[in-house]
Formats: sequence, C-alpha cells, structure tokens
Amino acid sequence: MRLLLIGRTGQVATEILRRAPEGVAVTALGRDVADLSDPAACAAAIARAEADAVVNAAAWTAVDRAESEEEAARVINGEAPAAMARAAAARGLPFVHISTDYVFDGLGTKPFAPEDPVAPQNAYGRSKLLGEQGVRQAGGPHVILRTAWVFSAHGANFVKTMLRLGREREAITVVADQIGGPTPAAAIADACFALAQGLAQGGPSGTHHFCGAPETSWAGFAEAIMAEAGLACRVNPIPSSAYPTPATRPLNSRMDCGSLHSAYGIAQPDWRDGLRNVLRELGALHAPA
Ligand SMILES: NC(=O)c1ccc[n+]([C@@H]2O[C@H](COP(=O)([O-])OP(=O)(O)OC[C@H]3O[C@@H](n4cnc5c(N)ncnc54)[C@H](OP(=O)(O)O)[C@@H]3O)[C@@H](O)[C@H]2O)c1
Repeated sequence: MRLLLIGRTGQVATEILRRAPEGVAVTALGRDVADLSDPAACAAAIARAEADAVVNAAAWTAVDRAESEEEAARVINGEAPAAMARAAAARGLPFVHISTDYVFDGLGTKPFAPEDPVAPQNAYGRSKLLGEQGVRQAGGPHVILRTAWVFSAHGANFVKTMLRLGREREAITVVADQIGGPTPAAAIADACFALAQGLAQGGPSGTHHFCGAPETSWAGFAEAIMAEAGLACRVNPIPSSAYPTPATRPLNSRMDCGSLHSAYGIAQPDWRDGLRNVLRELGALHAPA
C-alpha cells in the first residue's frame, strides 16, 4: 500500500514514518508541499499523488494560541482537512483523520462515547470539530480518530517538559483534576496503519476514540514520569483553577474506546508501557540497581 502522509515533523507523523509495516510505503508531505493554511494547495497535492490511502497527522496544535488566532486555526484544522478529504473522496481514497476529545464539553465523569453530543469549550476544539464535520461531509471512506494527551520522544510534549523540570527542581505543582488517558504517538501511528489498510479493504467509515489506559490525572502522569526516570522531584497536586491558561481545558477527557475495538480490533494501549519506551529512547529510563 502507498500511504500519503500529510505532516512530516509532528509527534504522530514522525512515528508513522518510523513504524511503517512491511508492504506499506509512506510518502510524507511537509509544510513546504502541503501548507494547511492553503487548503486548495493541499487538496491539489492529494489529487495528484500516487497513493492508495491518506493519513492527515498535521494540525494546529497550539491550544492556547488558538484563542487569539482562531481564524488561522480554523483554516488549518477545519477547512484544510475538509478540502483534503474531498480530494481523497473524489478518488475513492481512504482518509484517516486525527481529532481530539476537546470537541466535548469535558463535563461529568463518564467516558465520552463517539456519538455523544459535541460542545467544544475552546477555539482549538471548535476548529477541530469543523474539520471532523468537513471530513464526514466529503463522503469518502474515512475514519476520524479522536485521541488525547499525546506523548513521544520528539516534539514538545508533557513527558519532555516533566523530565526537564524534574531535573531542575525539587518539587513542581501539576493539575490533578483533569482526568484522561495519555496516548503514545507510536500507538496512534500503528492504529493509523491498521485503519488505512482496513478502510482500503472495505472497512466501515466512522468516528472512534483512541487513548491510553488506565485513566489518570496530569499529576498522576507526572508522578509516573518522575518514578520511571528515577527523579526525586515531588509532584504537588493543584486544581486547574490554580493554573489559569488562555484556553479552558476539559476536566473530563475520558474516552470510551470500545467502538474502535469492535470495528477494527484495535485495543487501548497501556500508556505505562509507552512511557517506558519513550524514556528508554530518550536515555532517561531509570534502571533499578
Ligand atoms: N498533542 C496532543 O496532545 C493531541 C491531543 C489530541 C489530539 N491531537 C491531534 O493529533 C494530531 C497529531 O498531533 P501531534 O501531537 O503529532 O502534533 P504536533 O507534534 O504538534 O505536530 C503538528 C504537525 O502539524 C504540522 N503543521 C502545523 N501547521 C501546519 C501547516 N500550516 N501546514 C502544514 N503542516 C502544519 C506541523 O508541522 P511543522 O513542524 O512544520 O510546524 C507538525 O508536523 C493532530 O491532529 C492533533 O490535533 C493531539
């Protein structure tokens, strides 16, 4: 299978490039060829590509900055995926698109199911919701994969921030009332391959959830990072109200991932295994004596 990957440098795109299974040839289009702020150019790139399936792993991911630059985020996360999905649909190419739990209101304590009502609480969430709607309306074979709390050995992410702070400080404060499932980018990459291949073989279109298990808080995740990295830094839990950010974050990022397993046999990854793999790759995994 020839897989066209939109995005080359992000966490998920990097893992897709590294983890292609046998029989899958990945061609990645970076910002130089497919700039998502120019949806028509991205659509044209898909229209002319030699490909059997498309995965979109590029997005505006600066959640706080989207509050002040919503129009730019809307084009990149909303209009570009819609235009690309239409170009893919015109050729009958499967389109795998990555989205977020931020399309929900984040209230309650129940895991969100894919069909639950959406009500994004910030500009990033609104832009990603628009992208989802555009991909569905394009009408081609597609899967929208909502994920959360992505981490890997590259790019900017929570694990790398905690490692840095854990080496610099004796104690840090981390929010403890946002609950979710940290998700290794490597596991998302593997899911994307399975979905692209499944769709190409006639698998069902739909929207599914995919995040790591078991659920934890950011503070719980930070504690695990410190422990696995052998760092003595204390993690002091605080409420979100004590850590104000421009964009409101959902307190409940729990997602019910059952439909992905039913439709495509893809199980939730255990983020603790993924964390150890990432720390090992970074040379930061603590080896007990
Ligand atoms: N990170 C998370 O915690 C998280 C949570 C939920 C959902 N998601 C979703 O998961 C997907 C992958 O996220 P990630 O963590 O891998 O993202 P990431 O590491 O932040 O990388 C974003 C990627 O998008 C590219 N990009 C941004 N603006 C672009 C533009 N105008 N034109 C072309 N490319 C552009 C970046 O390219 P440059 O390097 O050139 O900027 C980069 O390759 C996204 O759809 C995201 O919304 C992420």
